Amino acid sequence: MDRFVVRAGRPLEGEVTVSGAKNAALKQMAASLLARGRTVLRNVPEIADVAVMAEVLEAIGATVTRPEPAVLLIDVPDEIVPEAPYDLVTRMRASINVLGPLLGRCGRARVALPGGDNIGRRKLDMHFRGLEAMGASFVRRHGFIEATTPGLIGARTVLDFPSVGATENILTAAVLAEGTTIIENAAREPEIVDLAEFLIRMGATILGAGSPTITVVGVSELTPIEHEVVGDRIEAGTFLMACGIAGGEVEINGTRLEHLDLVVMKLGEMGLKVSPTAHGLWARSDGRLSAVDIATLPFPGFGTDFMPLAVTLLAVAQGTAIVTENVFDGRFGFVDELLRLGADIHTEGRHAVVRGVDRLSGAPVRALDVRAGAALVLAGLAADGETVVHDPYHVDRGYVNLAAKLASLGADVHRTTSP
Ligand code: EPU
Repeated sequence: MDRFVVRAGRPLEGEVTVSGAKNAALKQMAASLLARGRTVLRNVPEIADVAVMAEVLEAIGATVTRPEPAVLLIDVPDEIVPEAPYDLVTRMRASINVLGPLLGRCGRARVALPGGDNIGRRKLDMHFRGLEAMGASFVRRHGFIEATTPGLIGARTVLDFPSVGATENILTAAVLAEGTTIIENAAREPEIVDLAEFLIRMGATILGAGSPTITVVGVSELTPIEHEVVGDRIEAGTFLMACGIAGGEVEINGTRLEHLDLVVMKLGEMGLKVSPTAHGLWARSDGRLSAVDIATLPFPGFGTDFMPLAVTLLAVAQGTAIVTENVFDGRFGFVDELLRLGADIHTEGRHAVVRGVDRLSGAPVRALDVRAGAALVLAGLAADGETVVHDPYHVDRGYVNLAAKLASLGADVHRTTSP
């Protein structure tokens, strides 16, 4: 049976390099549909979700090859089939990111509606409203969303929340629309900035990516390019938290301090020393960290994807912390697994009260989603005995060799794979 097996060991020590960001690579793969010809993406993480997005693109008519582990060649023909099938969309919600590019390029799209999710409700109303303002019509039929437009026309949209996915779908539809689109209250995540840079180099006109107002002036055609995907700040944050949990001194290459400002600030308040290096970040933990309260918010706030990792760190910190989850409404499911390891956490709605304990106690647990799974692996670094994390495929969706990278820092972690 596949699983992670973790034992607490000596403090971490050494250097590790993060891979390209999952949530940037997937969106750029979808946006490659906007241009006929060959897009070359470098620094693409070798993870399960990238393989699923490659299948989505192939179902649409593109050819995707991987000549080297971190390089993807995406060949998009003149004729494509603007449809994302159910079996792929249910395997990965980010498949919905083909909606904007397909509408922009083909004027129609048929995308299966994703179903439930382990981290809470994930509505799509803002995606639809923004695209409707630009002249798209949507019909739900047989589990699919069917979108058509006689031609997208630029419009102003005010998002009621800075949704990452809605910002991306509206942005990727707007680049080929007629006239000017303005997205107010846009998401500001570094992955949005990387997507905008990718599109600008393809010939799009985009102003303000990374700020709350993005302005897009439509162009008639885009040209495929070669692009290097930004480093994965969530993976970098995972190694920072691992250092906080296991102790030690690490260098994390391939990331940038400005992508992790608030995470670094909170970890600093807890007692972890972090500073920038030429290639990323250096961190050292000299002992048990102290509890601080955390509330998740869209970027540049404390990202929701760091929350399960932070709860794990707080579970073994000195003192009591209140953690508030403001982005997803069901993201504390993993806490039951931490309780199996002896954590002292009480959840109520969007809040968790985390009382730090000296040590956790190894046990079998189950990964519920990618970040919660990684958090349980880290929990094992502070648990007596053996922690076995089942369903590791959730973690494989977002991390390249998490076990091997932690082991390279001296952690006692391995992943077993069934024959
Ligand atoms: N929302 C709506 N209506 C919409 C869109 C979103 O109500 O039309 C709500 C959602 O229900 C949620 C909140 O807005 O409560 C935030 O959703 P958002 O659209 O920002 O998230 P997403 O695009 O679905 C991406 C990442 C997530 C990450 C969030 C927040 C990808 C593939 N996923 O999701 O990453 O947690 O942004 O930063 O980019 C992960 O990598 O494991 C992951 C879950």
